[in-house]
Amino acid sequence: MGFIETRTPDTAPSAPQHTPDCFKPIPRPDLTYTPEVAAEMAPMYDRVKNVITPMEWPHYAPLIKAINDVKKQRNAVILAHNYMTPEIFHGVGDIVGDSLQLAKEAAVAEADVIVQAGVHFMAETSKLLNPDKTVLIPDMKAGCSLAASVTAEDVRMLREAYPGVPIVTYVNTSAAVKAECDICCTSSNAVKVVESLGAPRVLLIPDEYLAKYVQTQTDVEIIAWKGRCEVHERFTGEELEAFRAADPAVKIIAHPECPPDVIETADFTGSTAAMIDWVKTNRPPKVVLVTECSMSSNVAAETPDVEFVRPCNLCPHMKRISLENILDALLEMKHEVTVDPDVAVRARRAVERMVNLTN
Ligand code: 13P
Ligand code: SF4
Repeated sequence: MGFIETRTPDTAPSAPQHTPDCFKPIPRPDLTYTPEVAAEMAPMYDRVKNVITPMEWPHYAPLIKAINDVKKQRNAVILAHNYMTPEIFHGVGDIVGDSLQLAKEAAVAEADVIVQAGVHFMAETSKLLNPDKTVLIPDMKAGCSLAASVTAEDVRMLREAYPGVPIVTYVNTSAAVKAECDICCTSSNAVKVVESLGAPRVLLIPDEYLAKYVQTQTDVEIIAWKGRCEVHERFTGEELEAFRAADPAVKIIAHPECPPDVIETADFTGSTAAMIDWVKTNRPPKVVLVTECSMSSNVAAETPDVEFVRPCNLCPHMKRISLENILDALLEMKHEVTVDPDVAVRARRAVERMVNLTN
């Protein structure tokens, strides 16, 4: 597997372009935890009581109720990534899942407004697949170290350096980068996408570790970029071996953004959705999900029989999203995510090629 080391500065997200009629003002709801709110929200608390304490619930319940009410008034849908905290994931997410599931659902969303409870590249992907809908992200600063590691100019440089070699971009990139690439992939379909190209050599950018993992699964020669996920790169094989030494029966399930020594230690490697499926199907007595910390809480809410060992690495970008800023986003119709139309046409092609391949 080869590497390219050069990179240039990042691009900024594009500015909002229009103000549709559906931006009508909605008065700010009362967020008091009344006995009526407690009674209405009790069935929901029953579903999350393993992971949200009785002390926290009086704060969350009125916010969750308000968001779900305003969502109806706006004809909005909330796409929540598996790394959202449980009060978001279980409380207000209409569609939850990994990057591929969210991209596919975005493509068929019936709502007027999409609120992305996730990071900026996910909101851009939703906008690419829904150019006529209003896409909001509760915090514009919710970025991603992988998306920040490569620019459109870098990809143009790669085209010159590797003429004729197809370029696959991980979905964790800006629309500007996707526009320069042949096809998109996610952690759940990267091997399939690479092999679909029928080429002996493929550039797979920007995640060095995902590229290394894909190289172990295919005979296609993979050329990688030097981007890394700042959350997954912190895990080590040594720390996981220590968990196994403490309890040899523990199962270790890793995301492919982890370093190779972590993946070698793992019993299973897959996307966040594949990791969740593995736990729900196999029901191990004890498991370590080697990925962003909140996902363990989201799965624990539904699998009380499984004990989760938690080396708690949080994604600072995902954690910018909260119930408070989701409510603000819906009330004030902010922050709108837009993509330059010329970029969008080409970036959409790369995403649609992937979606069509995996449908
Ligand atoms: P998934 O596509 O597996 O959900 O991964 C997205 C991500 O950002 C992982 O860090
Ligand atoms: Fe990006 Fe890593 Fe955060 Fe996922 S967990 S959004 S790859 S920084």
